[in-house]
This record gives sequence, structure tokens and C-alpha cells, in this order.
Amino acid sequence: MAIQPVEGEKLPVKPVGVFPPTPPETIFGDASTPSPPEYPLPPPSKAPTEVLAIDEKTPDAHVPRDPRLIRLTGAHPFNVEAPLSDLYNEGFLTSPELFYVRNHGAVPEVKDEEIPDWEFTVEGLVENPLKITFRELLEEYENVTYPITLVCAGNRRKEQNVVRKSNGFSWGPAGVSNALFTGVVLGDVLRRAKPLRKAKYVCMEGADKLPNGYYGTSVKLNWAMDPNKGMMLAHKMNGEMLTPDHGKPLRVVIPGQIGGRSVKWLKKLIITEAPSDNWYHIYDNRVLPTSVTPEEAANDPRWWKDERYAIYDLNTNSAIAYPAHEERLDLATAPETYSVKGYAYGGGGRRVTRMELSLDKGKTWRLANIDYAEDRYREAAVDQKLFGGRLDMDWRETCFCWCFWNIDIPVSELKEASDIVVRGMDEGLHIQPRDMYWSVLGMMNNPWFRVTISLEN
Ligand code: MTE
Repeated sequence: MAIQPVEGEKLPVKPVGVFPPTPPETIFGDASTPSPPEYPLPPPSKAPTEVLAIDEKTPDAHVPRDPRLIRLTGAHPFNVEAPLSDLYNEGFLTSPELFYVRNHGAVPEVKDEEIPDWEFTVEGLVENPLKITFRELLEEYENVTYPITLVCAGNRRKEQNVVRKSNGFSWGPAGVSNALFTGVVLGDVLRRAKPLRKAKYVCMEGADKLPNGYYGTSVKLNWAMDPNKGMMLAHKMNGEMLTPDHGKPLRVVIPGQIGGRSVKWLKKLIITEAPSDNWYHIYDNRVLPTSVTPEEAANDPRWWKDERYAIYDLNTNSAIAYPAHEERLDLATAPETYSVKGYAYGGGGRRVTRMELSLDKGKTWRLANIDYAEDRYREAAVDQKLFGGRLDMDWRETCFCWCFWNIDIPVSELKEASDIVVRGMDEGLHIQPRDMYWSVLGMMNNPWFRVTISLEN
């Protein structure tokens, strides 16, 4: 993976948020502008154009997809992750076609010519209710672009399901991805609507009609108004229009929090005094106490209605991409050292400050190197006014993205080990625990990540 530091390169700035939608392009310019060397550009889009046979008989028959994605819930609804090595090899920015997808139901079909008139409302406890079309949003509001990592709260759930079946399907460790999102600062829109004094929450609702109503959830209003939180109404991913699976034409993106709060196909923002009463807010994205069994949870709605168990900020987490679990290493051809590597992320804007690896089941630990490519974007954004040049929010002070870590291990030492484990710690000293916290939805699973390898002579 060759991510190089930026050194004084002046990068061409392309205005973002133009309408009508343009054909795929990079946010840095078209072919006539000099291409900036040494900068972690979005990978060239290989956006699929064909609808796969498996999707033809589903309500998503209008959505072209990448066949490399691993389907976790059969043909439909579409819930997928990339093979971990493919995800890792993409580097800091994941291309939209390999970005994990979590769809509760069918993808709303929105034709390009319908996008300018796509409308959403800002209603509820506001002085000035708004109805905003996509065209107005682009014309009347300033755009920002930041790299943001999204993570499904179910990332790594498979490990919980192996221990004891939860009510959720088995995500591996690739329910996480990172992209440059372009959009309007959520607080800018809310400020125009003028929330009333007693308003406390922003409820969000998508256009996907599900068995229990439209998908919706909420976050605190003061978070949404806080520029440090970086919440946005996004319409582009890596400089290109959102793809149908990722919310075309408009979605909420919330850095540092579980992906479930980043509502896709946005239709409504409702300002309220209480958290969302949407079915998916109440019965999804919660970590109930570990003692609550699936039967108890199914029979007693009080467990679900307790907002204390709702999850927002991500917890510290990491995974080993190389070696893969159960990989065979051929000692005859192995180099003297093996580079063990993977990803890590913190939650709530906190950065991972330490990654540790153990070859003796946690008795002793050694420190790995950490690379935050996000810093290079931040430097470039500050120095060169990239991404629309707007920096009134303090992305400078916070952290929206995953990092990559690596450590070289002498193969002679690997030979002695039966497994490799890693753990991360963030700047708030939140450390990945040794033990799993099982819960009925199997969410936020973050114990030490472990792989076993076999060595062959
Ligand atoms: N928004 C709508 N409208 N419908 C959904 O099913 N899924 C949520 C969230 N927003 C969902 C949604 C969940 S659980 C996650 S993890 C993220 O979208 C996934 O975003 P992605 O599919 O773009 O990766």
C-alpha cells in the first residue's frame, strides 16, 4: 500500500456540489488538470454497470453491483462486505463498489432526472419548517468534503454468533469502509429551520418502506449543531454521485458513530423533544445487558425502550488483515520477517493511539506502527484549501477515520506462536477487552482480534 505524505504540492481544487450530476470524475479535476502526485487520491472508479443475475428477481433489479462482495443475508436484502484482504488492499479510501452495504430492505429507485426535485423536509419543533429540494440544497448551501469511516454496529458479529447465536447475521471484520464524503453541514440546514428552545433530538427518516415503517433513527440535536461532530447531508462519495446502495441521491453521514445513524435516501428531519419512536430506532442498534436472552428480549419491550441501551459512539476496534485467519505460511519460501498488518478505529472522534500485538495469548505485548492517512488530508485541506476550502469546523482537532497499523515479526518467532492477537487503545484509554460482551443483537463486538496460522516446512 503506497500512501505517501503530501509535500507542498498545490492541488487543483474543483468546486463540489454542482448540478446537474456530471459523469464520474475525481474531485480534483478532469483529465486536463495536472494529476497531483503522491497524494492519496480516491481509487479510480470501477463502478459496476451490470445488474447481477442474483439481483434480477429481487426488488433491487435496478442496482448494478460488484460480484466480489460477500452476501451475508442471501440474495435480498443486500447486506455485504468485501473480502478483508480486498478491503485492506484498497487502502485508505474504499471505492464505492467495495464499500460495505447494510440495507434493511429494497433500495429506492431514483432516476438521474428525478434527482433535482428530490425533496426532504425539516419539521417538528422548529420556528421555520423547511422543504428543500436537492437542487436548492446544492445551490443555497456550501459544501464540505471530509474522509469519513462508516462502521456497521454489527461489524465482527460472526465471532459472537459462534459463541452463542445472537439475533443478527454474521458480519466478518469487513463491515467497515472509508470514503471522501461531500455534502452540506447538517447544522447549517438545522440553523435555518431555527429549532425551538425545548428541541433536543434530530430524527431522520429514509425513503425505504420496510415491514415496520420507514427506516429512521435519531441523534442529539446539540451533536448535530456541533461542527466538531462533522455530521453532513452527503450527496457524493469519492467525488462521484452516491450509488443507489449508499443512499443516492442524499444521505446523512455521521462520523465516529455507528453506521445505523447515517440514514440513507433521506426524506425527513424531524426535530423533537424525545428520541425517535421509529421501530428501527427502538428495536435496532442497541446493546442490551448480556444477561438478557433472545426470548426475554422478544417478550418484554421494556428492554428495548430503555434509551440507555441505545448505542451511538463506536468503540475501539481493530482487525488483522494479514495474515488471514488460518493462513498457511510456507517456511521454505517465507522471508525472514513477516509484516502483520490491519486496520483500527476509535469512536466519537477519538484517535487510536496504540496498537499492540501478542504472540503468547496476551502475556506480553509489542507495539505496532500506526498510520493515519487522514492527517495528510487534513494538512492538505488546511494548507491548500482543498475540498471547497471551508474549515470552520474543527476536523483539525478530531478524527473521523480508521487507521492502518503494521509490525514486522521475525518468522522464527511466529513459528513458536499458535495464534496472533491484537488490541487497540484510543486517546481516552478505551482499550479493546480480552473478553467478549455478548448481547442479544451481537453489536459492538470488539475483543482482542485473533488469527491462527499454520507454518509448513
Ligand atoms: N438508512 C436507510 N434508509 N435504510 C437502511 O437500511 N441502514 C443503516 C444506515 N442507514 C439503513 C440506513 C445501517 S444499519 C448502516 S450500518 C448504514 O446505513 C450502512 O451504510 P452503507 O450501506 O452505505 O454502508
